Amino acid sequence: MRILMVASEALPFAKTGGLADVVAALPAALARLGHHVDVVIPRYQGVTAGERAGTVRVGIGGQVAVAQIWIAAAGNVRTVFVDYPAYFDRPSLYGTAGQDYPDNPERFAFLAVAALEWAAALPERFDLVHCHDWQSGLLPVLLRNGYAPAGIARTPAVFTIHNLAYQGVFDASWLPRLGLGWDLMRIDALEYWGRISYLKGGILFSRLITTVSPRYAREIQTPEFGFGFDGMLRHRADDLVGILNGIDYDQWDPARDPHLPEPYDATNLAGKAAAKRVVLETYGIPVDEATLARPLVGLISRLIDQKGFDLIAEVADELPRLDASFVLLGTGNRRYEDLWLGLAARHPDRVGAQIGFDEGLAHRIEAGADLFLMPSRFEPCGLNQMYSLRYGTVPVVRAVGGLYDTVRNFNPRTGKGMGFTFDEYSAQALLDTLRWALDVYRDRSKWHRIQRAGMSQDFSWDASARQYVKVYERAVAATE
Ligand code: ADP
Ligand code: GLC
Repeated sequence: MRILMVASEALPFAKTGGLADVVAALPAALARLGHHVDVVIPRYQGVTAGERAGTVRVGIGGQVAVAQIWIAAAGNVRTVFVDYPAYFDRPSLYGTAGQDYPDNPERFAFLAVAALEWAAALPERFDLVHCHDWQSGLLPVLLRNGYAPAGIARTPAVFTIHNLAYQGVFDASWLPRLGLGWDLMRIDALEYWGRISYLKGGILFSRLITTVSPRYAREIQTPEFGFGFDGMLRHRADDLVGILNGIDYDQWDPARDPHLPEPYDATNLAGKAAAKRVVLETYGIPVDEATLARPLVGLISRLIDQKGFDLIAEVADELPRLDASFVLLGTGNRRYEDLWLGLAARHPDRVGAQIGFDEGLAHRIEAGADLFLMPSRFEPCGLNQMYSLRYGTVPVVRAVGGLYDTVRNFNPRTGKGMGFTFDEYSAQALLDTLRWALDVYRDRSKWHRIQRAGMSQDFSWDASARQYVKVYERAVAATE
């Protein structure tokens, strides 16, 4: 199949979260299955990859602009960059200082229109368009409402929800500014509480909808996790498929990870101890016999409520009293940044905090930590717990969404399981579970068994990519 994929981020070019990992790894896996994928993303500041490949005319709201196209090819995957500096040559992807860019509606409308124009002008036809999250939500709307150029107008769309909490909700006055008709202001179109939602557009105007774990596919049909979209998703339940993300073992495999001091695998964990030493040094935690023997708990995350940082905040003062050290890498809410910086300042021998985004350090923490903490309030899939499993770093997670689907709780009776999970979203449940895990850690043979169970899990992309192909085929068949 020829697939046109449109998204707002993709590794190695632009990343704020797991979406970028997926939009890189899924096309590569589809290509291994023999499909051809073109991934269209903005050419953000700092992107230097690709060759100039002509221009597209992008007409929006009566204005026509010309965008430069750049293409970077890697086998059966091409990354197509839409270059329009006024929109994309900015210090960050979506906004600065906690504020979204006010022109995001037109920035991502521009991406959608440019993608359609570029694709329609090619001699070859696409079988399918695959969009991700609200940033490409307008594209299925354009396709199904007579706004797409002839060369692509009849192509079916599949839409993937990576996170229902980000809904791309804007003032309705954007409709005329984008040259879209007021007929889209219907409850069965873009209208959302008197405003418009790009996410809603993506969901309603795509043939099929996927989300990134089977559990999350069920959860988002309930009021608790539906963020106001549960009714709409129940209505489309037959067209909603949960497909677990894979992980890219070319990037995340301790046996061949260039970011680590030494490679290791399940048969020889010496390299893991070397990574622990390096991580402790990085964070300025004294490296002595006692610290090396003490379990190290890692956290790598956007510091937001979704990830359970409010729970952690409630028990923050208890953490340094546990028989463990903690290292955190992340950025996000000032409140949580300050909390962790404060903890590290007060307990420099037990807690380290780095505020920032650092890919190499993220790999070293995955390797050097003994446990990984991820007490999410909700989690569509989550990648870090899967990286942790592969790195022999035992996850302590709340059993929701993709965390539920990927981490089986340790069973003291059978010794089976690969992590520690809790159900109730409470600070006490988090603390109890962490204490339990630290207790089990002391039994080295039990612990090694848990580590090995995690390391032997297979979350490679190929199985997930095959499920996407099935969805694509269903969407195409429904169109014919
Ligand atoms: P989400 O997409 O909701 O943030 P995921 O677990 O799916 O959560 O993906 C997060 C990705 O971003 C992982 O690859 C993780 O390693 C990475 N990441 C998050 N914060 C940082 C950071 N501060 N530095 C480096 N990598 C980070
Ligand atoms: C979103 C979700 C995360 C998921 C990622 C990739 O950012 O928050 O759970 O793993 O998308 O699908």
